[in-house]
Amino acid sequence: MSFLPAQLIRAKRDGAHLADADLRAFIAGVTDDSIPDYQIAAMLMAIFFRGLDDRELATWADAMTRSGDVIDLSMIKRAKVDKHSTGGVGDKISIPLAPAVAACGVAVPMVSGRGLGHTGGTLDKLESIPGFKVNLSIPRFTELVDQLGVCLIGQTERIAPADKRLYALRDVTGTIESVPLIASSIMSKKLAEGIDGLVIDCKVGTGAFMKTLDDARRLCAAMMAIGKAAGKRVSCVLTDMDAPIGHAIGNALEIAESIDVMRGGGPEDTRELTLALGAEMLLVGGVTTDAADARARIAAALDDGRALAVFRALVIAQGGDPATIDDHARLPKAEMHTTVVAPQGGTVARIDAEKLGVASVWLGAGRRTKEDAVDPAAGLMLEAQIGDAVDASQPLCVLHHPRGLAPDRLEQALRLTREAFVIQPDDPATTMRLGTAKSRVLEIIREPS
Ligand code: URA
Repeated sequence: MSFLPAQLIRAKRDGAHLADADLRAFIAGVTDDSIPDYQIAAMLMAIFFRGLDDRELATWADAMTRSGDVIDLSMIKRAKVDKHSTGGVGDKISIPLAPAVAACGVAVPMVSGRGLGHTGGTLDKLESIPGFKVNLSIPRFTELVDQLGVCLIGQTERIAPADKRLYALRDVTGTIESVPLIASSIMSKKLAEGIDGLVIDCKVGTGAFMKTLDDARRLCAAMMAIGKAAGKRVSCVLTDMDAPIGHAIGNALEIAESIDVMRGGGPEDTRELTLALGAEMLLVGGVTTDAADARARIAAALDDGRALAVFRALVIAQGGDPATIDDHARLPKAEMHTTVVAPQGGTVARIDAEKLGVASVWLGAGRRTKEDAVDPAAGLMLEAQIGDAVDASQPLCVLHHPRGLAPDRLEQALRLTREAFVIQPDDPATTMRLGTAKSRVLEIIREPS
């Protein structure tokens, strides 16, 4: 090593702007293990307090991207655009979105994640389709993106390995909630996919990492700056994550709901998010420059069966059982159903996404420890939505779980589900206000063209 990490840590601690070569050397030392954990942790804390300016951030993120393989998709002539969500509850949007966008002429090379905390993961959902494989080789991934216009796989050891080490240390050193560190972590993995452009679904609200619009805007600005420095087009869609998306939370349940969306149906908010994010991906991919036209193209792909046809081809190519697409009953099914009912009549004023996300983990749909296996059939189905008028004892939510679920786990899930639904006794003014449908899309930030 031709530099002293302690000097760089001291310089950042005191507010200096670090030279590009020093930042790259530091990330190289993270990747090859030549810098010990304690010095990396100290640097992360210095960045947490002092931040990185635009140049430093671009260099730091680029070094992280290049710490492993950058997939070469240059032989695919179509524009290649991915979508990244910062994580939500009931967030199955990638599943109808990727085939719909591919059906409209933009290739979607999607490297997805597993559930994290109370938020679900696309890979866990896809694996609830019997036989579906997410660990494909990069040559096979490239081949499917070329042939079908879409492939969804998990992160390999060779994609942004520097992030793997930094993320694990951030998790245990109080340095997760830093805009430059989150932005570089997300963007390094996405830029390694060989994309031309990216649409970020930045979640805002109680069920999201970013609780306020201002924090979400700062994160989006940082991710867009990294994308711009790498020569990629990036748009950000800020979306509301106070209440769960759609009616289903849980892996197989969310696959069934996603298929409904690809048949032109599904819950209104789930279709709406698919249209909004899909339209943005077509704009970033340059298929059209008109937002209304982009939206109409995605709607047509959902309504006329083209998105579903791409999804069917994807399921077959990735080893899954295509019969599940035509018959939801062939997806994993829970043995037991436990219903939570309204304690009183009134209007559903609030549904706490985070509480229901944690409840789904207790039921087995997510992991409590890294080693846990998920139960593909477990989860929750919402029977009431915000603004609905409900009578006392009317079902609010059905919990899906195995017969042998430990009683204390079921009890935790029931408690959280009861707490998640806030019912206001009826008064006409409240009912009118809550009854007004609210779009989940709060704001779209695009690069000036
Ligand atoms: N997701 C990531 O990949 N990295 C972060 O730092 C936060 C969320």
